[in-house]
Amino acid sequence: MEPIVVNVDHLKDWSPDSWRRKPAAQQPTYPDQAAVERVRRELGHLPPLVTSWEIETLRSQLADATRGERFLLQGGDCSESFADCESGVIAAKLKILLQMSLALVHAGKKRVIRVGRLAGQYAKPRSSDVETKEGVTLPAYRGDMVNRLNFTPEDRVPNPELLLRAYERSGLTINFVRSLIDGGFADLHHPEYWELGFVEKSPLAIEYTRMVKSIGDAIRFMEVLAGTSLGQINRVDFFTSHEGLILDYEEGQTRHPPRRSGWYNLATHFPWIGNRTRALDGAHIEYFRGIHNPIAVKVGGAISSDELLALCDVLNPENEAGRLTLIHRFGADKIQQQFPPLLDAVRKAGKVVLWCCDPMHGNTETTNNGFKTRRFEKILSELEQSFRILSEGGSHLGGVHFELTGDNVTECIGGACGVREADLSQAYRTQVDPRLNYEQALEMALLLARLMDPQTKA
Ligand code: PEP
Ligand code: CO
Repeated sequence: MEPIVVNVDHLKDWSPDSWRRKPAAQQPTYPDQAAVERVRRELGHLPPLVTSWEIETLRSQLADATRGERFLLQGGDCSESFADCESGVIAAKLKILLQMSLALVHAGKKRVIRVGRLAGQYAKPRSSDVETKEGVTLPAYRGDMVNRLNFTPEDRVPNPELLLRAYERSGLTINFVRSLIDGGFADLHHPEYWELGFVEKSPLAIEYTRMVKSIGDAIRFMEVLAGTSLGQINRVDFFTSHEGLILDYEEGQTRHPPRRSGWYNLATHFPWIGNRTRALDGAHIEYFRGIHNPIAVKVGGAISSDELLALCDVLNPENEAGRLTLIHRFGADKIQQQFPPLLDAVRKAGKVVLWCCDPMHGNTETTNNGFKTRRFEKILSELEQSFRILSEGGSHLGGVHFELTGDNVTECIGGACGVREADLSQAYRTQVDPRLNYEQALEMALLLARLMDPQTKA
């Protein structure tokens, strides 16, 4: 095997810890820095969760998506919780992502890249460092990797041991996902493995069942023609992603694999930079510019065209397809005004990026009775507008990014299952942002599929 050589001249002054020289937003204040250092070293000794080979496969698939030959489906919890690291919850999440991808493949006639927001999505940016309840002020909850949700001083003090617990839970999660996939859970001969009970009552069941039958017929037809079983269909690729927020955690698993010319974050395939930590001179950009993983940046309305182009320069100086995904998240009411000038600037500057729509984070609102929620029709509207704006701007929508769960929660309003504002309290379980439930997510995929279907567009 030949070593893979890439140009790393611009990285001469970079090291996995060079981010420490820059201002790092959204980091916990640990009471004991020596303990953090110990944990970081221990993280560095543990076996990696993913390999550079898998990461390179994903990068090349994302390059295909940049050229319009594949479509990225990224989704999962806003914030994973340690308590939800259990087989039923993980299998349900995998099932809904597989079912959604089936709908997209079927309609879009393109291969879909499946990426979970999982096995590491344990840290959250917060608008304030502290939270006050009934006169008591404690550190804000920053995700299970940092502290605990319970409002007591013991639970809220950031504890570096939780970085290790997060790594272990990520390992357990990825192990289970890999076993399910290797064991044939994702076999397209048997999409019935992925059926989830409560959708049977849904008006979407008929559309979904029809689609599954048509895929089954197509596979059997191809197998008759080929005179053999289509082995490839037994397997799908599945990748992991999380927001690379807590830099001690990310640095811990940043390795220089043998026979590679660069550094990789081996805790996940596809880390992203959040909208609140993308400051050009900040620690997150410094860390991310040096790793060879494909990376993404969340892009919200407050960014200027110059800033966005500068981000593309720093993060993807070679302008390589597959390296950089821009996950835009403006909100259904703002995208028409905010997106076209940015898109135009990126196109005119010749920057090669994959555009992926996150229709969740610009559409969060709080109800009168205090629930953070999102409306199904706003989410769909932002997706529809993204398709149109990108195609009018001479580009194309290359992917979608959802907060969802395979469970029957009531966190987002609307959809065919008819969750109303008054229903939110029934099963509101998210630790941070509201997620589409199983049925809403599947419905969203079927509607998205219509937007992607070349025949609907014709
Ligand atoms: C998120 O993806 O959960 C998130 C915090 O998003 P953003 O950085 O876009 O606000
Ligand atoms: Co979120």
